[in-house]
Amino acid sequence: MPLAGLWVVAAVLAMTAGAPAHAADLDAGRHKAEPCKTCHGPDGNATTPGIPSLAGQPAIFTHWQLIKFRDGRRKDPQMSAFAASLSDADMADLAAYYAAQPSRPRPSPTDPEKVAIGGRLAEQHHCASCHRPGLVGHEQVPRLVGQDLTYLVKLLRGFKAQTAGDLDGTMSMAVERLSEADIENLAHYIADLSGRSARP
Ligand code: HEC
Ligand code: HEC
Repeated sequence: MPLAGLWVVAAVLAMTAGAPAHAADLDAGRHKAEPCKTCHGPDGNATTPGIPSLAGQPAIFTHWQLIKFRDGRRKDPQMSAFAASLSDADMADLAAYYAAQPSRPRPSPTDPEKVAIGGRLAEQHHCASCHRPGLVGHEQVPRLVGQDLTYLVKLLRGFKAQTAGDLDGTMSMAVERLSEADIENLAHYIADLSGRSARP
């Protein structure tokens, strides 16, 4: 089970990302997020399909993704250039800023049949054991609720094809046995969960 590896990664991260003298500065992060707004939205809630929202993501998760984009372990034609010149302090500030922004649901039409099947799959594959009940994420595990449907499908396909550059192979293992239909159904379930959590 990759869980042991996950905690080793978390421990190493706590040492490398947390230890230096720099304390994350939220206001500095807001300022440094200016160039990110065009794609990720003014407060980290993106509206373009396929572009992830960053609002409400655990700081450690965001920091790690930026490190991976900077060192090329994760690649994207739109995103990579924006991480290339970020310092570790920039990443810590940006991650703290986005973690403090409230996440809003991404409007997407969901198919009730796919939502129901996806809910059963999420239980069967224990997605919440890492992503937490309500799929709100914690530490290096991302928040899924509030994320864009198109992006969720893209990343799940990416993990399966082993092109999404996940940290320690945890997600590649988690999706190994998922079919294309399973991926679609799970994404609909997660997108629907976002909508429901926003309803009064
Ligand atoms: C030109 C559009 C664009 C700009 C500007 C941009 N990004 Fe991105 N970003 C993307 C796209 C597209 C992805 C998804 C990449 C993928 O599919 O793997 C992404 C992914 C990310 C992720 C990973 C999120 C996740 O849930 O996995 C983080 C973190 C991120 N961007 C932070 C930033 C920050 C910080 C800035 C500003 C310094 C920025 N981005 C600027 C387009 C952009
Ligand atoms: C053993 C722990 C674990 C399990 C089980 C797990 N995940 Fe993950 N998941 C992670 C971690 C850690 C990441 C971050 C990977 C990375 O990019 O380094 C992640 C990333 C993701 C992402 C990318 C989100 C983003 O914003 O980039 C999606 C989508 C996702 N998981 C969906 C699922 C679904 C659906 C299931 C159940 C089928 C699942 N996960 C099961 C640990 C887990």
